[in-house]
Amino acid sequence: MSGGIGAHDDQAWAPVRQRFPVLRDTTYLNCAALGPMPDFLLATYQQAVLDRQYLTPGDAAARARAELAQYLGVEGASLSFWTNTTQAINVVAGSIDWRAGDEVVVNARDFPSNVLPWLRLRDRGVVVRAAEPEGGRLPLDAIMAQVTNKTRLVAVSHVLYHTGYRVDVDALGQVLHPRGILLSVDGIQALGLMRPPLSQVDFYMGASFKHLLGPRGLGLLYVRPEVAERLIPAMVGYASVTLDMEDAAGLADLVQGRAPLAYRDQASRFHLAHVNTEGLSALADLLTFFDSLGWDAITARVLHLSGLALDGLRQVPGVRLVTPLNDAERLSLAVFRVDGWDARALVDRLAARQIVCAARAGAVRAAFHVYNEASDVERLVTAVRELARGD
Ligand SMILES: Cc1ncc(COP(=O)(O)O)c(C=O)c1O
Repeated sequence: MSGGIGAHDDQAWAPVRQRFPVLRDTTYLNCAALGPMPDFLLATYQQAVLDRQYLTPGDAAARARAELAQYLGVEGASLSFWTNTTQAINVVAGSIDWRAGDEVVVNARDFPSNVLPWLRLRDRGVVVRAAEPEGGRLPLDAIMAQVTNKTRLVAVSHVLYHTGYRVDVDALGQVLHPRGILLSVDGIQALGLMRPPLSQVDFYMGASFKHLLGPRGLGLLYVRPEVAERLIPAMVGYASVTLDMEDAAGLADLVQGRAPLAYRDQASRFHLAHVNTEGLSALADLLTFFDSLGWDAITARVLHLSGLALDGLRQVPGVRLVTPLNDAERLSLAVFRVDGWDARALVDRLAARQIVCAARAGAVRAAFHVYNEASDVERLVTAVRELARGD
């Protein structure tokens, strides 16, 4: 791994910025909704299409798995690919042997994808308890206040999509695991910005279309190997069982009940069938690109830029920050409200100035990535200052 560009050094990051055509005429601060693809993915897709045209055997899935395993610091066999984060959460929720009376703790204000699959377990007698964030934060105490001796799993997002607060998933896992409680983390607002600490996490899922800057329709799931072996996959396909596709008698044995359904090892039991191989080529190339920049440098860069924004915004009269200032409690988001302004109206007015943010839960969310620079922050802060005073 090379890299190590200084977090403040806009000039050194300029070649990275140039790879993102959208930035030529837009101050893009919305990769927490949809990340812009870098220009080099055109060549990646062209090659993927050529490979299909000539039916050239490729290794995209193996390459993406190896890159992802290296990035996450886990074994490749613990990873499976899905369509999106929501599907991966559903797979986890549906694969545990729930007993009536088991409890799950969620964040009452989480993105619906990380609440609804758990709520549906009520049909199976599972009790869902909800922790409430406090002033934008979801501290361990607020989560642990909902944990009882019946809790089997806690589901949180690594970074809260509407406040930018970063949950200390390592510390949370360290409290939960001695009690035998599983930890499931929706990582979509952290993947592509940092190396998530997974040693205390049982399930970690996300998708490639936000901060990983990749295609839609490509989700991923890490399952801790010791846990994977205890799960009965919610869905089954030819790739999840030890069936030899060449052996017609093998399927007949299963159908006739002469052989049991045997799931493959670890997370391989979650593989179903064909995956988005063209998208995996893109993901593999993106991970190589991120790795060349260095994950520490990437994290420092996004913390620096979002910190600069928070610092500038808090000096604007009428602005109230939602995201905590402390680096350990945030990552790339700068979320704020402006007195007297509806967040949607403010986002529309910013968009009219080619500054793209999002309105979430009554606040404005600006999302930074390595391709942004101090001039983007200045444009945002200046526009908010002018709009706040009615210019
Ligand atoms: C925290 C969180 N989880 C899940 C999602 C949905 O992701 P997907 O479309 O991959 O299911 C989003 C945003 O779209 C999100 O912010």
